[in-house]
Amino acid sequence: MNLVLLGPPGAGKGTQAARIGERYGVRHVSTGETFRQAAARDDELGRTVQPYLESGGLVPDEVVIRVVLARIAAEECAGGWLLDGFPRTVGQAEALDEALRASEGRLQAALLIEVDDGEIVERLSGRRVCPTSGAIYHIRYNPPQRAGVCDIDGKPLIQREDDRPEVVGERLKKYHAQTAPLIPYYEQQGVLLRVSGTAKMPDEVSAQIWELLNGRNRKQEPA
Ligand code: AP5
Repeated sequence: MNLVLLGPPGAGKGTQAARIGERYGVRHVSTGETFRQAAARDDELGRTVQPYLESGGLVPDEVVIRVVLARIAAEECAGGWLLDGFPRTVGQAEALDEALRASEGRLQAALLIEVDDGEIVERLSGRRVCPTSGAIYHIRYNPPQRAGVCDIDGKPLIQREDDRPEVVGERLKKYHAQTAPLIPYYEQQGVLLRVSGTAKMPDEVSAQIWELLNGRNRKQEPA
């Protein structure tokens, strides 16, 4: 199964991607996480993307496309992939389509998690992440068992730099201007699945996703 996850910053893409990856055995590829790790290592990719991460701007298409196409062509993605944070522009979506055509692959679904802008700020201001395990929490809606500490590896949780309110505003602007056009793009391809991300508990959002993906798998099974 090959999937893409769409939705505004803070919609819950990373939270749901981890669950989908586990349930369906597909490789979760997060462009944001890839870039944050590169920035922390301060390697060449990290130095290229750091200014965009800090300001909430989009990393140039040619950089992102190169990174993602290399990942999905690698052995780790042979059993299917779930792209979280890619594509984010029509140019990126076209590059993905071209790569799929060349490899005779197919995109099963573009899953759109919808959340109003008003709720995004509350979500992002309460988000805490583990810098080592990558686990995502929310201080109210998805708290760790022990405040401030990761359930998986016991490391202290941190707040992401781009969750500052002034950066969140810029990320939302970019989403509406450059990423929202992907909604009609995938609707026309007949692969768009809409999920309401406003349920206050991630489990409720997951339940909608299982229903939609199971329905789609049933439809695509040969008669
Ligand atoms: P990226 O890391 O992809 O950021 P994003 O899309 O802005 O998404 P987030 O990670 O902020 O949110 P999310 O939807 O994953 O929500 P989460 O599950 O954490 O990208 C970062 C940057 O990298 C970009 O700004 C850009 O610079 C660059 N970049 C990345 N990809 C790029 C590309 N393709 N092209 C160009 N540049 C690119 O949930 C949020 C919070 O809400 C958490 O605290 C969570 O616990 C909580 N929560 C989740 N679900 C619920 C729920 N149902 N109810 C209540 N709370 C919930």
